[in-house]
Amino acid sequence: VSRIIPVETFDLVIFGGTGDLARRKILPALFKRFCSGQVPDGSKLIGAARSDLTTQAYRALVAEALLEFVGDIASDAETVRAFCEHVHYVSVDARGETGWSALAAELSPETVRAFYFSVGPGVYSDLARGLERHGLVGPETRIVVEKPFGHDLETAQALNRELAQHFDESQIYRIDHYLGKETVQNLMAVRFGNMLFEPLWNAQYIDHIQITVAETVGVAGRGDYYEKSGAMRDMVQNHLMQLLCLIAMEPPAQFEPDAVRDEKLKVIRALDAVQPHHIVRGQYTAADGAAAYREDVDNPRSKTESFVALKCQVNNWRWAGTPFYLRTGKRLRARDSEITVVFKDTPHSIFGPEAGRHRNELNIQLQPNEGITLNVTIKEPGPGGMRLVDVPLDMSFAEALGPKVQGSSDAYERLIMDVIRGNQTLFMRDDEVEAAWAWTDPIIHGWEARGDVPKPYDAFAHGPDDADLMMRREGREWRGLD
Ligand code: BG6
Repeated sequence: VSRIIPVETFDLVIFGGTGDLARRKILPALFKRFCSGQVPDGSKLIGAARSDLTTQAYRALVAEALLEFVGDIASDAETVRAFCEHVHYVSVDARGETGWSALAAELSPETVRAFYFSVGPGVYSDLARGLERHGLVGPETRIVVEKPFGHDLETAQALNRELAQHFDESQIYRIDHYLGKETVQNLMAVRFGNMLFEPLWNAQYIDHIQITVAETVGVAGRGDYYEKSGAMRDMVQNHLMQLLCLIAMEPPAQFEPDAVRDEKLKVIRALDAVQPHHIVRGQYTAADGAAAYREDVDNPRSKTESFVALKCQVNNWRWAGTPFYLRTGKRLRARDSEITVVFKDTPHSIFGPEAGRHRNELNIQLQPNEGITLNVTIKEPGPGGMRLVDVPLDMSFAEALGPKVQGSSDAYERLIMDVIRGNQTLFMRDDEVEAAWAWTDPIIHGWEARGDVPKPYDAFAHGPDDADLMMRREGREWRGLD
């Protein structure tokens, strides 16, 4: 099933190479690509950080991280050793002069060169300036920037301006790892690879669309970051917004970076301002042995939200009148990310009122158990007359494509390889990020101005009652998280 597209020899420098993201995601992703033969001989993976480590010590750290996070495939010491041959370490002081010439000496002159900024956003400018000052930026140079990309519109604009002084937009890869998820890309395949859906994909046939990204984890250990961010900045401004764009965008002329990103941008720009009564914020309280949000962030008066549910409208020809409902939260009942497209009722039921109301629903399950289900109405089998039931036309990926596909290609693997190949389709452009902030900023500023306090909700349940109420007032109900 998997087809390996070869990549050129590359040098990848991970600034923040000893950090959590590098250990958890970046290095395991590179290791998996190495196991699939996608790290060509001569490629170098260079960890860079402040700590004074030898390459030998860094390789030991890498091997340990692999065991911890992808132990099932990193159990073969020989493979890990072979991978580590590619791994090097340089101690670099982002803000000072130390280490830059050693880094320059590690880099090969004519290969693709990628610098992964796996550091706090406060260091991005220093790194960008450092790279340029030390002559490390060439035409084949790319930088990868993690979220959060700014804290609001103003800071995102400042960051874009700063990066633009040192790099061309075509060299900047702003990661949103949701775009690397298998099912998220399948969304585009389903929409634009089938004749079946696109003619119905509009306000005339679709009643509403909902997107839920629910997590069971809390924020313990990330309190400092999360307390300043909250669910709106942490999840809605980026991940949920990207999902909304892929669902709502017009068909791009080609599956090419700017064609896709132009269409996504138009969706964000068409979003109406969210009315305060169409948004519910929540904050989890202690339950089932888990601490409350306020304990997790060590702030007994915190007003930061760990849950958001909102209704929004894409104000364009295709979607006028079709609401989009977004919901995300921590410490909910289940890890469950899904998108449901609820079609309208048939205009007239020939079977009379006893047949009940039946609607087609397309459900896209992002995680866990990736798959797509279409609910279709059929006759209930048996001699009992014309009674209707809904049955799922089920396309579970594990079943359809074999168990290997499910969860096998972690988003980071795909996205890092796209950086090496120079393909920006699944990365956010400067104007996209800014437009997303321009939409979220007034919502957040409104909360601040009103001194809004999030509604408490029990950990490991369904979120604040108000979120359910909001849906009931609309005559609808949430899908998922049952
Ligand atoms: C990150 C957020 O971007 O995405 C986290 O900062 C969140 O708060 C994570 O937990 C969710 O990612 P995934 O891939 O586990 O759904």
